[in-house]
Amino acid sequence: STNLHGRSLLTLDDLSPAEIRHLLRLAAELKAAKTSGTEQLRLYRKNIALIFEKDSTRTRTGFEVAAYDQGAHVTYLGPSGSHIGHKESVKDTARVLGRVYDAIEFRGAGHAMVVELAQNAGVPVYNGLTDESHPTQTLADFMTMREFTHKHLSDITVTFLGDGHNNVARSLALGAAKVGMDMRIAAPKALWPDEAFVEHLRTLGAKTGGSLLLTDDVDEGVKGADFLYTDVWVSMGEPDAVWDERIALLTPYRVTKAAMQATGNPYAKFMHCLPAFHNTETEVGKSIAERYGIDCMEVSEEVFESEASIVFEQAENRMHTIKAVLVATIGG
Ligand code: CP
Ligand code: NVA
Repeated sequence: STNLHGRSLLTLDDLSPAEIRHLLRLAAELKAAKTSGTEQLRLYRKNIALIFEKDSTRTRTGFEVAAYDQGAHVTYLGPSGSHIGHKESVKDTARVLGRVYDAIEFRGAGHAMVVELAQNAGVPVYNGLTDESHPTQTLADFMTMREFTHKHLSDITVTFLGDGHNNVARSLALGAAKVGMDMRIAAPKALWPDEAFVEHLRTLGAKTGGSLLLTDDVDEGVKGADFLYTDVWVSMGEPDAVWDERIALLTPYRVTKAAMQATGNPYAKFMHCLPAFHNTETEVGKSIAERYGIDCMEVSEEVFESEASIVFEQAENRMHTIKAVLVATIGG
């Protein structure tokens, strides 16, 4: 049987295929219980610290509402809300928070920081996004895929278009290899994930039946896909100077109606972790768009607002899957 009690979640490498499936089942149960008003408080009186060194909408609210729904309390520590990493080392902070809290969530740049927290806290630590990985996002993505197709995870084909070495793409690819999915990354060669990571994915895939296609050809990458997935072209913390290169490299990999049609699958769905640059309404979107004379970046407004778009279901499922992680690791 699956027992995740006391465990951390830093990357999907921390979970076996059976444990991933267990968390997805639990998330579906918790979602149904919330809807029907029958949720049991399995985190009653637990305390959870939420450390955010970068901004967040979904991850923060997901953790907060998941905790409150289950009877737990949270403390939000923003970029300037604690001494961590500035006046007090990560190791010392971990040892303090581990004595006060039942679990700690961390979002920041360096993956080494979340590892150091987990090694020293003595309580479960959850990665709420680092430069390397975004594991709670992938759990929500898988839950959403299951809701929108009758297929098992191992029969699903998903294509990520865009920056193939960003955190969301790598987590998706790692999760896909773990559950035996057909994963494709359609990206210019310069933005493919690094060799060592690709080797790791292939080793996992050989055991699970998962496959991995890296291609710079959009049509080849999307053919037969159940889901097209993309993310921003420049992640939080990356220097403004990379926009020039990314826009030049990635414009052909934008998710457009043509890309959706090239799947050949009339039921293909569009996914995005959000936030997305699908128009020029936002302050950042507007300034980039004006600078480059474009009206969207990684996805067209048409696709984003289409029937095929399941991005808000994904966003909601962040909360249900985070709740499942909390209940499984620190729940009574
Ligand atoms: N998808 C995601 O992690 O969103 P936030 O940055 O809003 O948490
Ligand atoms: N790749 C994005 C994901 C945000 C949820 C970033 O790291 O900014």
